[in-house]
Amino acid sequence: MAAATDTEFAAWAASARAGVDGFLEDWWSPAGPWSRELDRQVASHLEGLRSAITYSACAPGKRIRPLVLLAAAGDEGGTAGAAVQAAAALECIHAYSLVHDDLPAMDDDDLRRGRPTSHRVHGEATAILVGDALQAEAFAMLATLDAPAHAIADLVRVLARAAGAGGMVGGQQLDVEGSPHVADVHRLKTGALLGAAARMGSVLAGHDPATQELHGHCGSELGTLFQLVDDLLDAVASSDRTGKSAGTDERRGRRTAVSTHGVAEVRSAVERQHARCRRLAQDLHPGGPRLAVICDVVRDRAG
Ligand code: IPE
Ligand code: IPE
Ligand code: MG
Ligand code: MG
Ligand code: MG
Repeated sequence: MAAATDTEFAAWAASARAGVDGFLEDWWSPAGPWSRELDRQVASHLEGLRSAITYSACAPGKRIRPLVLLAAAGDEGGTAGAAVQAAAALECIHAYSLVHDDLPAMDDDDLRRGRPTSHRVHGEATAILVGDALQAEAFAMLATLDAPAHAIADLVRVLARAAGAGGMVGGQQLDVEGSPHVADVHRLKTGALLGAAARMGSVLAGHDPATQELHGHCGSELGTLFQLVDDLLDAVASSDRTGKSAGTDERRGRRTAVSTHGVAEVRSAVERQHARCRRLAQDLHPGGPRLAVICDVVRDRAG
């Protein structure tokens, strides 16, 4: 595919987001695949939990991770299919990470995606369980993919490793400990899931292991870019713009890229990291052109 134009990318991204959103809404709906596995009476007892899960899983996020997966897979933005289901599974892991990240014991945040956080609406115990349920169900989504067994096994392994103690959870641990190794924190807490997104797309595209590795590397570097921008926006952007409370990292005394290097240096780091990600994206096929535009979209959030 030639370089993606802005118009072509916008149309593809809108269709890809709609596919993932529709999948998630259906999966968690009262008549959807999750509810259908349950005894009717149990389903009615669990209506509160189901609705709390939907509140977070179907909330209006940017869906960057699904877009990376679908771009890497060469998906043309259909509404069904294995790539959309895998992208929805990844988004469930991400949604769980946000619900737990906002908990009083972690970042103690009140606002997420422009709405009160899960524990603010449903209570802390339910928010913990919403995260637990989203994590388990993500793997049920992968296990029931319409794909060859070896591809499913690869996807499960990649996502489990990225979500776990050597990936996102490990990064969150370093973050709450106030680790001075900010680049490692970024690579783990955010780079791991974005690396998994690109790698999972590459698995679904049937690439060989070396090509999957290249995709994983590009996604991971994009994750670092993403978190640099997130740290910057926490310091300089309004709550209306991010849908999250502004300035919370500084109020909490968090060690971030901005607290370590200052706003001006982080802005330069964003430019350098953007150039690095774009170079890596350009070598990838067939998703490179779209991945390159995603790099631009992430950088442009910095304003
Ligand atoms: C927020 O991720 C958590 C970070 C890794 C910074 P996003 O900014 O992708 O959140 P949503 O999904 O768009 O709400
Ligand atoms: C969280 O980083 C990354 C996750 C793994 C959820 P942040 O704590 O900076 O994310 P926000 O700013 O709350 O979205
Ligand atoms: Mg956090
Ligand atoms: Mg947070
Ligand atoms: Mg942040």
